[in-house]
Amino acid sequence: MRRLEGRVAIVTGGGGGIGAAVARRLVAEGARVAIADLIEDSARRAAEPLGDMALAVQFDAAAPESVKALVERTVAHFGRLDILHNNAAMTDPVLQAQDTTAIDIPIEVWNTTMSINVTGYLLGCKYALPYMISAGAGSIINTASGSGVMGDLARIAYGSSKGAIIALTKYVATQYGQQGIRCNAIAPGVILTPALEATAPGLKEIIKRHVLTNRFGTPDDIAALVAFLASDESGYITGESIGINGGSLAHQPHYADLAAAMAGA
Ligand SMILES: NC(=O)c1ccc[n+]([C@@H]2O[C@H](COP(=O)([O-])OP(=O)(O)OC[C@H]3O[C@@H](n4cnc5c(N)ncnc54)[C@H](O)[C@@H]3O)[C@@H](O)[C@H]2O)c1
Repeated sequence: MRRLEGRVAIVTGGGGGIGAAVARRLVAEGARVAIADLIEDSARRAAEPLGDMALAVQFDAAAPESVKALVERTVAHFGRLDILHNNAAMTDPVLQAQDTTAIDIPIEVWNTTMSINVTGYLLGCKYALPYMISAGAGSIINTASGSGVMGDLARIAYGSSKGAIIALTKYVATQYGQQGIRCNAIAPGVILTPALEATAPGLKEIIKRHVLTNRFGTPDDIAALVAFLASDESGYITGESIGINGGSLAHQPHYADLAAAMAGA
C-alpha cells in the first residue's frame, strides 16, 4: 500500500528497533522520512538503505534548540512536514538501572527521563505544529507504553513518563484538532527488539504467559500501526492511546495462573 505518497515524516529514535522499522514502512508507503537519533551512526545505518527517501539527522530530544533544528532541517530538505512520530526514549543503561522506586530513584534520573521522554515529545510538537497548521493537516503519533497505564515494581520514571505522553497526546489533539491536526499515542507491550533482548533476557518467558497471541510483537507490527495512524485511513481517530500488546491487558489478572493450573489438572 502507498498511502503516504508525497508526505514527509520525522521519526525520532529512528536509529533504534521500532523507529527504524517505522521509517522503513513509511518510506514503503511513499513518504520521505527524516530519521533522527541521538546516535548519529544508528540514524545513518537506518537511513542508508532508503536512499534519497531518507535523511539521517543527529539530534538530542532533551535540547530545545536541537529539536527546533531537526524540524527546520527536515522542512528545508524535503519542503514540508506532514507526520511526526515522537518515539525516542532515554536508553542510557546506567541511568535505566537506577530508575527504580519512589524512595530509591535519584532525582537526576527522574529529571533526565522526563526531559527526554516527555519534554522531548512536547518540543517535537511545539516546533512541528506551526508547519502542519499552515498546511492545514498533520498527524502526530507518540510512542507511549503499557507501562504508562499500569504500575510495576521498578522503572517509576519510565512508566510515569509514558503516562504523561498519553495525557500530552490528548491535549495536543484537543488544542489543534480544528486546525486539521490529529494526535494519537501508541502503547506497545513487549516488542522483541535487540535492545530488549539484551537488557532483559529472562523477562521474555515471564511475559509470554500473559500474551494472548501465539507470538510476541515485532517492530514491524508497530510500524503497521504507525503507518495507519499517519495515513488518511485513520482520519476520524484522534486523542486516542492504542494498545498493541498481544492482548496482554485484555484478560483477568489471574489468567496465567489459571491457565497453568488447568494445564496441570
Ligand atoms: N521494545 C519494547 O518492548 C517497547 C515497549 C513499549 C514501548 N516502547 C517504546 O518504543 C520506543 C522505541 O523503543 P525501542 O524498543 O525501539 O528501543 P531503542 O532503544 O532501540 O530506541 C530508542 C532510540 O531513542 C534514541 N535516543 C535515546 N536518547 C535520545 C535523545 N536524548 N535524543 C534522541 N534520541 C534518543 C536511542 O539512541 C534509540 O535509538 C521507545 O519510546 C520505547 O519506550 C518499546
